[in-house]
Amino acid sequence: MNKLKLGDKNYLYPSPIVLVGASTNGNPNYMPVSFCSIINRVPAMIAISLNKSHYTRSMIKENGVFSINIPSADMVEDTDYCGLVSGRDVDKSGLFDTFFGVLDHAPMIEECPLNLECKVVHELELEGSNVAIIGQVIETYSDERFLTNHQPDLKKINPILLSMYEYNYYSVGEIIGKAWSVGKNKK
Ligand SMILES: Cc1cc2nc3c(=O)[nH]c(=O)nc-3n(C[C@H](O)[C@H](O)[C@H](O)COP(=O)(O)O)c2cc1C
Repeated sequence: MNKLKLGDKNYLYPSPIVLVGASTNGNPNYMPVSFCSIINRVPAMIAISLNKSHYTRSMIKENGVFSINIPSADMVEDTDYCGLVSGRDVDKSGLFDTFFGVLDHAPMIEECPLNLECKVVHELELEGSNVAIIGQVIETYSDERFLTNHQPDLKKINPILLSMYEYNYYSVGEIIGKAWSVGKNKK
């Protein structure tokens, strides 16, 4: 074994970048989040981890709802900007066209190829600065042009991926095999 020990780091590569949407007093706010993962299939649940000091966190606490918006690579500049400034100091709502679905207070971004509106079902205060928030997905939205056979098409969505400690954004590469299938060659 010639591997180097790199320490107790959260090296989970790559991280998808989503814009989490929330609102207060009718004002939408968006922040990029890389700590985001699917954690249940039925009912559909997604976990995000937010620093407790973020403005978005206080809005989610206030209303118990949030949205997950998947930006495409051509939205990288606006997405990054949302992570450089706080909604406490700057109104970020004008960057995007906002729409609402079935949940009040969970603003979604028209320009993003995929939108998920979520109701908070669990929260877990973590050691240190963050709170893990688990949302049940209540409804999802997309445009025909991002779908193939009525399912989201990764190539068409062209999401942003983060290489965390390298501080670089990537876009997706090539298909290398059919999932739950290519391994059958080994049987
Ligand atoms: C690429 C990127 C990923 C980020 N991921 C997270 C994250 O997973 N959790 C978190 O709490 N903050 C994360 N941040 C930081 C927040 O997005 C940032 O502090 C933002 O300005 C908070 O906005 P708000 O104060 O309007 O809520 C990330 C920032 C960037 C640029």
